[in-house]
Amino acid sequence: MQEKIQKLEEKMAQAQLGGGEKRIEAQHNKGKLTARERIHFLMDEGSFEEIGMLVTHRSTDFGLDKQKILGDGVVTGYGTVNGRLTYVFAQDFTVLGGSLAEAHAEKICKIMDLAMKNGAPVIGLNDSGGARIQEGVVSLGGYADIFYRNTLASGVIPQLSAIMGPCAGGAVYSPALTDFIMMVEKTSYMFVTGPNVVKTVTHEEVSSEELGGASTHATKSGVTHFTYENEIACIEGIKKVLSYVPQNCEEEPPQLDYKGAEESRPALNSIIPDNPNQPYDIREVIDGTVDENSFYEVHKDFAENIVVGFARIGGRSIGIVANQPAFLAGVLDIDSSTKGARFVRFCDCFNIPLLVFEDVPGFLPGTDQEWNAIITNGAKLLYAFSEATVPRITVITRKAYGGAYDVMNSKHIGADMNYAWPSAEIAVMGAKGAAEIIFKKEIREADDHEAKLKEKEQEYAHIFANPYRAAARGYIDEVIRPDQTREKLMRAFKMLENKADKLPKKKHGNIPL
Ligand code: HXC
Repeated sequence: MQEKIQKLEEKMAQAQLGGGEKRIEAQHNKGKLTARERIHFLMDEGSFEEIGMLVTHRSTDFGLDKQKILGDGVVTGYGTVNGRLTYVFAQDFTVLGGSLAEAHAEKICKIMDLAMKNGAPVIGLNDSGGARIQEGVVSLGGYADIFYRNTLASGVIPQLSAIMGPCAGGAVYSPALTDFIMMVEKTSYMFVTGPNVVKTVTHEEVSSEELGGASTHATKSGVTHFTYENEIACIEGIKKVLSYVPQNCEEEPPQLDYKGAEESRPALNSIIPDNPNQPYDIREVIDGTVDENSFYEVHKDFAENIVVGFARIGGRSIGIVANQPAFLAGVLDIDSSTKGARFVRFCDCFNIPLLVFEDVPGFLPGTDQEWNAIITNGAKLLYAFSEATVPRITVITRKAYGGAYDVMNSKHIGADMNYAWPSAEIAVMGAKGAAEIIFKKEIREADDHEAKLKEKEQEYAHIFANPYRAAARGYIDEVIRPDQTREKLMRAFKMLENKADKLPKKKHGNIPL
């Protein structure tokens, strides 16, 4: 027996080495950790159980029969993250460049199937040269097997993708199908076709970093939701996101012990400037309302006119969607609508109540927006809110104009509680624009056009630039002092904690994609 045990131990030791010491050193020299090191930092100490350590590929083409490496370039298994069951796969770049083929894909599918059956999140740590070129179509089939499972798992278990090296070609579509993408600055990139193909086809000269690095996807494309300075920070980010979400769609998010009272927050009374056209940072309102240091922003550098992220109120997870008056006056445009819609749908999938802070002057005008389908894209946000059955609360801090009033979680599309601060202005449009239209003739005929416009503007503002018309109709449940916001929200979310709401029976809706 001893001999047999020794043989097993030798094999396990061999598997630990992946592609060998030289390649591990090369990985470290690039500032990257190995697959096993990443798992070590992600999972609770001693909790990781590896599955399929001795798997090898079955290919013989192009000399692959002489390059069989235990594990076939991906480490898979389960363990706990902060005490909660979590499945993980980590591609090992030291083995054939982490390339994906038949056996490698089967290992990933196996843990995805287990995760689905047992209702726990899957974390993918991606670092791969893409389809294993020597295995041909089998590699493509392996990818599709994963894509299919990503899609079936969507909305059932949380799926997080960290990009910690190359992720190119069709390989990008597995992360894209998951809930969140996190990228490491400088060492990761994602693109469908790399710089060489781009140069051949479009004659553009572009580096990998510029084409698909972390900062590009954080600011330009919005493909990544988070970026991190290094891999350790990225792994901490994964843990942080998991801390707000439940294990699966049947469960509630974790509730933290929270000793704080339903306290008044007087600082909220002095955030809104006297001049309604002056910006302020909505993050001050968010931080001033939620549990201390609990706000974790998602998509921070993309479509900054809307702010979305996780937070806690009284220890409960909530998802926040807030217009940002400090960027483009908080206007809704294509990118901010899709950003908001995607986050709303994530929260609704996983029973995370929604809190909206609203200060929006309307949708952004212009040919660029119209020709790129602000109609279809704006409708995504409208659809996402309308369809959400989680507890939903809105606080209008200042402007709620036009269609954007309806879209931003209004009472009419199913919000449960709608509050407004006394500074709220709930109207079809701003007073100046409104006066120019409805008093056009009077203004034109007046001796002093400017004075007449001003007078009519004030008249309109007097009637509509406040929350009281909407409150009189019950569109606003209560006009509250800003300093009361936190206690009102704590009570309202508690009141809504057993909310049961169902959509009409259907196969699935048809969100305007
Ligand atoms: C097999 C691969 C590989 C691949 C890398 N390797 N990519 N082996 N299939 N796709 C191997 C290399 O041969 C090398 O082996 C080792 O991994 C490390 O690669 P290097 O090139 O030395 O590393 P580096 O200089 O860091 O460059 C990394 C890289 C480059 C940029 C990823 O390897 C590369 O361009 N690879 C090919 C990428 C690609 O075209 N993939 C197919 C995309 S199409 P040794 O033995 O020397 O260590 C695709 C379609 C998917 O993925 C469709 C799904 C629907």
